[in-house]
Amino acid sequence: MITIIGSGKVGGDAALFSALKRLDDQILLLDIMEGLPQGEAMDINHMLSEQGIDVEVKGSNNFEDMKGSNIVVVVAGSGRKPGMTRMDLLKINANVVKSVVDNIKKYANDSMIIPVTNPLDPMAYVTYKASGFERNRVFGMGGMLDLSRFRQFIHEATGHSRDSIRALVIGEHGENMLPLPRFSSVSGIPLPSILPKEKLDELVQNTKQVAAKVIELKGATVHAPGNAISAIVEAVVRDRKQVIPVATYLDGEYGHSDVTIGVPAVIGKNGVEKIIELDLNAEEKAVFDTAVKSVKDAVSGIEI
Ligand code: LAC
Repeated sequence: MITIIGSGKVGGDAALFSALKRLDDQILLLDIMEGLPQGEAMDINHMLSEQGIDVEVKGSNNFEDMKGSNIVVVVAGSGRKPGMTRMDLLKINANVVKSVVDNIKKYANDSMIIPVTNPLDPMAYVTYKASGFERNRVFGMGGMLDLSRFRQFIHEATGHSRDSIRALVIGEHGENMLPLPRFSSVSGIPLPSILPKEKLDELVQNTKQVAAKVIELKGATVHAPGNAISAIVEAVVRDRKQVIPVATYLDGEYGHSDVTIGVPAVIGKNGVEKIIELDLNAEEKAVFDTAVKSVKDAVSGIEI
């Protein structure tokens, strides 16, 4: 069973995309708000019935119902408002995530946890430490969402089909994110040989800033995060061995330890099956190292 804790817009969308992809027979939406998960589940089930898809979506306020879950997505917590950074949510959401993780340990101690709550990288660290799970079982969704935006900007800049575009974004799902043009391509052709540096720099900036723009325009980001969550869940349940940037715990990789940050990893049935170390150049490494420091500074003030 897939459990999604937090049944707001993103959690509901993640359930919807996961159901449409038939990622499990049962999907559970959990929330502390009475009625919200139940109503969301009903609405999705009505859609599934018209589509003839026999995936059962349930809504509950009872954490005990997540018993037997093999994947738990954690979206619970506050979302940012216009003008806020993700890091502004640190204190309030750390307490929410710790409480949620206590329940996961109690009722789904064999599951894999996919943190989504912002600030994502610090929350993934809190989840890893508070759960006591092996590091392959905790991997936050951040870079997958960022690369979906980077791909859109590459699509707009080149006019090429989205299907032929591959992009990579690592580092912090936040102010110090690291879109990587050198590791992005159109049909295998490296991006730097297609677009001039000033254009690449523009796409990188756009990727970093666009979520705030969406929030300013519509109040929240919903479909892109919901989709990115379902894509990571799909890589696990279908054992795809897909290379996806996820926020996972480093133990010496990229020259860093005791930090959870976005890195490319092979995602399959055992979660993070391998961390891939890229040969970053000096400029890329400097941004990555700054991101690591930002996350370490953030978690240093949290009691776990
Ligand atoms: C975003 C939120 C999920 O980037 O951090 O849309």
